[in-house]
Amino acid sequence: MTDKNSKASSVLSGPIKGQASAPGDKSISHRAMIFGAMAHGTTTVSGLLEGADIMSTANAMRAFGADITRGDDGIWTVTGCGADGFTSPKGDVDCGNAGTGVRLIMGAASGYPVSARYVGDASLSSRPMGRVTIPLLEMGAGITSDAGDDKLPITVQGRSDLTPISYAPPVASAQVKSCLLLAGLNAKGTTEITESHLTRDHTENMLKAFGATLTQDKRDDGQIIRLSGPQSLSGCHVVVPGDPSSAAFLIIGALIIPGSDVIIKNVMMNPTRTGLFDTLIEMGGFLRTDNFRTSGGEVLADIHVKYSKLTGIVVPPQRAPSMIDEYPVLAVAASFAKGTTVMDGIGELRVKESDRIAASAALLKAIGADVTEMDSGLNVTGSDGAPLPGGATITTHHDHRIAMSALIAGLRCEASVAVDDASMIATSFPSFFALMAELGANITDAGAA
Ligand code: S3P
Repeated sequence: MTDKNSKASSVLSGPIKGQASAPGDKSISHRAMIFGAMAHGTTTVSGLLEGADIMSTANAMRAFGADITRGDDGIWTVTGCGADGFTSPKGDVDCGNAGTGVRLIMGAASGYPVSARYVGDASLSSRPMGRVTIPLLEMGAGITSDAGDDKLPITVQGRSDLTPISYAPPVASAQVKSCLLLAGLNAKGTTEITESHLTRDHTENMLKAFGATLTQDKRDDGQIIRLSGPQSLSGCHVVVPGDPSSAAFLIIGALIIPGSDVIIKNVMMNPTRTGLFDTLIEMGGFLRTDNFRTSGGEVLADIHVKYSKLTGIVVPPQRAPSMIDEYPVLAVAASFAKGTTVMDGIGELRVKESDRIAASAALLKAIGADVTEMDSGLNVTGSDGAPLPGGATITTHHDHRIAMSALIAGLRCEASVAVDDASMIATSFPSFFALMAELGANITDAGAA
């Protein structure tokens, strides 16, 4: 990623064809760095997403005392702080654009007697941190924000005798759950988290892989997690699977461009992440999963996608946690479907890297799609497969997923669709341009302006 804005554009494209591997999963990559830094001994990581967000987290973990290196073979080694615990960083902890990074790190560091001031880029500095600082305060951490609000910069003073809490996050958020479980590792007694809707469960799975014990009592759509502290983690080998949220861009590109036929390999099929695939199949998309296998505790598969005539549906709101990052690109698919797609119950999108409800609506309007923005949702009526006019420059608001959604939409537009800044794509999908070019997509990366 560069400091300068970097322009990119796309336009009506012939079919995309071939095979591609999804880049490493962002959620698992963050966790591998953080858990490895807390653990005793050495953690090795293969398939790490080498995106800007993960590099910010790795640097933060180095600042707290972990040793992190990349081998020539692409395997990362994290030598954890173990029994010595974290040490206070010398300067600010810069989490860049990464909400997952900052929220999980705040939780992890709260359980050690260290102080750190967290900062981030313009997007991260506008996102709400109260969802983690309020319960961390209840556990006994000291929290102050420079501006007296719930935004970065925020200083957290941790302690080795945090009080465990029973907490039901008011929003369905894996980041909040994970933050509190990591803090709970060093609190004496049982930390209990009640989720009314199951969110991605990578923290639970990976804590177990690092030797921690916790219980998960599944109830209706949710679960109660109990973790007794203090507990220490032991380093292990982490295999990072392909990111379904990144695969989504390739999948939807193939679904909307006539004649496309693509196989995406190594995609994680964890059911807490695959809501988009169910939705696209219900819309009539040709998606066939094959070659199921287990690696590093997660199920992987290859996904075969072909151009399909899509039909709008009502996306069940309870499915939102399992596809929360995929709505902008789903809105693109919906704008080429027949009929209306209703996406409701997604108010959380307003506090992601950008206000993704507003940004997606603006993107679709700019390319000539029929979209209605609601308080907590979007209704999109599609073109029934016909190309849209395009001919617009989209404001990305430092949001990688808005930038990629716009470039995928442009592949089915008569006139070129540009983005004001493509540099953020490197936060989650540094190989996006190269992969799309290999598949034959008409996307131009003009580089730093
Ligand atoms: C993430 C959880 C989600 C998601 C984010 C990654 C994680 O956020 O949007 O990209 O790795 O835990 P919320 O848990 O806040 O919904």
